[in-house]
Amino acid sequence: MTKFIFLGPPGAGKGTQAALLAAEMNLAHISTGEILRAAVRDQTPLGLEAQAFMDRGELVPDTLVLGLVKERLATLNGDTEGWILDGFPRNIAQAEALDHLLRDIHQQSDCAVNLDVPDDILIPRLLSRGRQDDTEAIVRTRLQVYRDQTAPLIDFYQNRQHLVSVNGNAEVQDVTQRLKSAILTTVKAGA
Ligand code: AP5
Ligand code: MG
Repeated sequence: MTKFIFLGPPGAGKGTQAALLAAEMNLAHISTGEILRAAVRDQTPLGLEAQAFMDRGELVPDTLVLGLVKERLATLNGDTEGWILDGFPRNIAQAEALDHLLRDIHQQSDCAVNLDVPDDILIPRLLSRGRQDDTEAIVRTRLQVYRDQTAPLIDFYQNRQHLVSVNGNAEVQDVTQRLKSAILTTVKAGA
């Protein structure tokens, strides 16, 4: 089983790279952002609660997000050879909750991968994509939320020797290669 957490600021390429690696390595790609956007689209009770937070670029309350991650991990069947968590955990409380959740289901992540990309590259990437939350004002909030709440996870995982940093400022396929070699090294070291 290969089990990774993808960390990184908005626009770092978490979703792009997680999708490519999940397809290639037969992993479940669990993106809390995608699950939440689908819930908003379908106007489910979860979506109705989450929408206002997402429209402002703020984090959706932990309890909502934890419930959906728990459900996704619990319903994985034997068809995949592991998972990639993309966009979760997003703060220390979520990281601690993930620890408990994984302990309960007798699993452990291999490592947290931090995709490192400077702000002056992120902003044009996001503004040229044009997702609903890719306006200048919301992007500014998302970056601030990342710095305040998510970036502390780099130290959190570094302190447990559980962090791998990959430079994400390159062509998509070059970043994929860097990630694959980082993952291979980690899996070998843990084996
Ligand atoms: P989420 O969907 O997770 O968005 P995000 O973290 O802001 O990040 P993005 O998805 O924008 O960036 P990414 O790193 O995935 O980059 P991507 O590959 O798309 O969260 C959205 C919202 O949902 C949050 O604001 C919050 O409200 C809520 N939410 C989600 N998870 C939550 C949680 N755990 N707790 C609470 N709330 C939560 O790439 C971006 C663009 O760049 C694309 O156009 C892509 O084509 C391009 N690109 C990618 N790689 C490259 C490259 N190497 N070179 C050039 N362009 C590239
Ligand atoms: Mg994403």
